[in-house]
Amino acid sequence: MAEMKSIGVVGSGQMGSGIAQLGAVHGLNVWLIDSDPLALSRASKSITSSIQRLVSKAQLSLAAGTSALGRLQCTAKLEELCSADVIIEAIVESEDVKKKLFLELDKIAKSTAILASNTSSISITRLASVTSRPRQVIGMHFMNPPPIMKLIEIVRGADTSDETFNATKTLAERFGKTVICSQDYSGFIVNRILMPMINEAFFTLYTGVATKEDIDTGRLGRKRGIGVYDYRKPSPRL
Ligand SMILES: NC(=O)c1ccc[n+]([C@@H]2O[C@H](COP(=O)([O-])OP(=O)(O)OC[C@H]3O[C@@H](n4cnc5c(N)ncnc54)[C@H](O)[C@@H]3O)[C@@H](O)[C@H]2O)c1
Repeated sequence: MAEMKSIGVVGSGQMGSGIAQLGAVHGLNVWLIDSDPLALSRASKSITSSIQRLVSKAQLSLAAGTSALGRLQCTAKLEELCSADVIIEAIVESEDVKKKLFLELDKIAKSTAILASNTSSISITRLASVTSRPRQVIGMHFMNPPPIMKLIEIVRGADTSDETFNATKTLAERFGKTVICSQDYSGFIVNRILMPMINEAFFTLYTGVATKEDIDTGRLGRKRGIGVYDYRKPSPRL
């Protein structure tokens, strides 16, 4: 697949705005879409101030920051995505709502475009099943907040092609991410491990093993630099 030049991001909330920022800072033309104009204007302000912060900390040059902002377009019109190379969906976590969007995106997007979802838990295979291009549908599970967190989980649906996987991995690496690849099973990798741990923390409290403060400190110790391996280590910049 040729080098990607443009992405669309649908949903301009916590995740979508961060993904759009990553795309713009890494040289892509970005359309950021939301059905809620207030969410779009909040996203535009937060991306602008985040890029200004990077410039003020000298993590990004003024010229790079200005051109990143110049590459970002915020709009409510899904049709604007007709020439995007990749469209990353980051809307509400509802299978029905996402399927409706994928159906629309399949009609609007160019035939070579990849349709990606940032879902934390919904089957990529089922989202792909409503499109005419299941080989070009994939999961891109960014961690929160996307500009900071280094890990990304790429999720292959049952029909995702190697070409789609390789192009998506290349895009994630361009964003400076560490890529892990999951097959399409419930919880993928990260949440499959995380959820039983959270559940066990409640049992640890319930059975009187420790106070909630000590359980929290034990669990969060890794974040405070006193624990073991942190697979979601923040990236040093962007
Ligand atoms: N927040 C997290 O920590 C996190 C981490 C990883 C993955 N995710 C996943 O990312 C996705 C987005 O999560 P978020 O926390 O950014 O949500 P959010 O509520 O902050 O943002 C969702 C945005 O989508 C917009 N939206 C809803 N339906 C739409 C539609 N049909 N068309 C266009 N815009 C629409 C909403 O107006 C809202 O602005 C979810 O699938 C979530 O599971 C979230």
